Amino acid sequence: MTAEPLERSLDRHEQLTGPDPRPDALPLVLRTARETDLPELRRLDEEVFQEVAYPGFLLRQLFDMYEEHFLVLDDGTGRLRGYVLAATRAIGADSWILGLCVTLDRRRHGLGRELMREVLTRLRRDGIGVVRLTVEPANLAAILLYRSLGFRPEEPDGGLRPDYFGPGMHRQVMRLDIPA
Ligand SMILES: CC(C)(COP(=O)(O)OP(=O)(O)OC[C@H]1O[C@@H](n2cnc3c(N)ncnc32)[C@H](O)[C@@H]1OP(=O)(O)O)[C@@H](O)C(=O)NCCC(=O)NCCS
Repeated sequence: MTAEPLERSLDRHEQLTGPDPRPDALPLVLRTARETDLPELRRLDEEVFQEVAYPGFLLRQLFDMYEEHFLVLDDGTGRLRGYVLAATRAIGADSWILGLCVTLDRRRHGLGRELMREVLTRLRRDGIGVVRLTVEPANLAAILLYRSLGFRPEEPDGGLRPDYFGPGMHRQVMRLDIPA
């Protein structure tokens, strides 16, 4: 599918689309999260993840720890349309994707892939060699996205980890090696 108009500024600003009055056609900026984004990030996280959204205090501390690997899609109206967050381990050269989402109205336009590609580029740049994530085993959209980027289930058992987040909350662990 064709990528949605996306201003991949990454703190550079070059607009890729002309003016269009429709809110869903506003050009998006993919950029590093800022402290001032936190209230909107919390709202977005709750909109998408509902009862499993991060508590506000945790989101705040994740931002403090992993700001450089916390990226957002900014539509320029004060709304964020997606984010990705990667956490690097203090010892070793590996990282976990702790959050990825795109708002419902912006899905299937290549934005989830753009967020992932950019955070993987930054992780490689910063010396990370292994990226892991967990995904709900029935979340086909996310699994197909991760597979398309090269992630594979981490053995044993095809990556399946029963009760990973507590009783009945199974996850699949996926892994990507990103050689320097
Ligand atoms: C997963 C998610 C981030 C994907 O974002 P997106 O912007 O819609 O994804 P993209 O448009 O970049 O799609 C990239 C690829 O993912 C796969 N994909 C995405 N959505 C899909 C769907 N609904 N059905 C099937 N495949 C899908 C496709 O392989 C797609 O490639 P294609 O368009 O060339 O076929 C989005 O669906 C989302 O926010 N879901 C809710 C939160 C969530 O589940 N996060 C992941 C937690 S582990």
